[in-house]
Amino acid sequence: MKLLITGGAGFIGSAFVRMVVGQTDYHAVNLDKLTYAGNLENLSAVEGSERYRFVHGDICDAALVDSLLAEERPDAIVHFAAESHVDRSILSPEPVVRTNLNGTFTLLDAARRHSVPRFLHVSTDEVYGSLEAPAEAGEDYPLNPSSPYSASKAGSDLLARSYFVTFKLPVVITRASNNYGPYQFPEKLIPLMITNALDAQPLPVYGDGQQVRDWLYVDDHCRGILAALAKGREGEIYNIGGNRSLPNLDVVRQVLAATGRGESLITYVKDRPGHDRRYALSSEKLMRETGWEPVTNFEAGLSRTIEWYRANTAWVSRVRSGEYRAYYERNYGGRALAR
Ligand code: NAD
Ligand code: DAU
Repeated sequence: MKLLITGGAGFIGSAFVRMVVGQTDYHAVNLDKLTYAGNLENLSAVEGSERYRFVHGDICDAALVDSLLAEERPDAIVHFAAESHVDRSILSPEPVVRTNLNGTFTLLDAARRHSVPRFLHVSTDEVYGSLEAPAEAGEDYPLNPSSPYSASKAGSDLLARSYFVTFKLPVVITRASNNYGPYQFPEKLIPLMITNALDAQPLPVYGDGQQVRDWLYVDDHCRGILAALAKGREGEIYNIGGNRSLPNLDVVRQVLAATGRGESLITYVKDRPGHDRRYALSSEKLMRETGWEPVTNFEAGLSRTIEWYRANTAWVSRVRSGEYRAYYERNYGGRALAR
């Protein structure tokens, strides 16, 4: 089995590559543009493996994707590559639309022409939009995206579905909830709060901090993708949730307690425009059809993640230098204490 994995140098993609190379006998070809979020350090564990190849390139480059599929003839494409951050999609929507929509289109169309036997499109629960409690989204819940990021993901899901319906491309779509774990870029809530807390810097909480997210440990997500890849039915969508919904403020307080910092570091800042209040999804379909379930308890996963950030200060300081500083200033500079 040979997989073409896109975005394999990012947070979830690199966890997936490490899992595939380390725990299966699959071959993995990783196509990644190495944007600010792509980091080859995340892949040092596999770089010497003869079952792993890295290709530096853009999923929007049709000629490159075409020649790669002709050369490698993969059994499946597992498509992670995306601009993945909501705040950046608000500050600069153009790269988000280009990669998430045009890039997904380029891959789907090449997969069709090369008759790739399986196309797993990695998507998100954000496509369902904000849900009032106690509702949970099943896979047929209406799409109601709020940000340029989630709209581009919803659009890419629909394109993927259209390639199944129209061209019979064997597409499977997964939609996961909020991931956390080692190697996550510190623009997302949990790694941002951990790295700021370790440095005794302010923890910027948007609005009232009562927005709810469902937390999924990254390895549980990757096992869910492997399950959907092996057993998911063509043309079907599978939700992958962590079954652990928490308000943001509870997560931030747990980070402070685990890092030995006081609550005085919490800084309420101006809310994210269009901020979704609550995500909640049911993963019953994936569990029933494949036997997958999330196994990592949130407290255990959070403590493992904090230990990883404590132990990997060189990784943290490299990713927080340069571009990150400019992004941080742009996103947070004008918001402080303007609740
Ligand atoms: P990430 O931002 O950490 O990594 C994205 C990777 O894609 C990077 O390595 C980057 O270099 C690469 N990339 C970006 N544009 C590219 C392009 N044009 N061509 C080739 N490579 C490109 O993202 P992540 O958090 O690991 O998310 C991976 C996927 O999972 C995304 O599709 C995202 O929508 C989805 N997802 C993420 C979460 C989450 O909580 N992070 C939850 C559900 C779904
Ligand atoms: O739900 C799945 C999605 O989860 C993925 O599709 C996205 O790729 C991923 O980025 C994530 O989106 P969110 O917007 O939910 O994640 P983020 O970590 O940016 O924010 C989580 C919550 O924390 C959200 O309610 C906003 C809030 N937040 C975030 C940051 C970065 C803050 O209060 N302060 C912050 O500084």
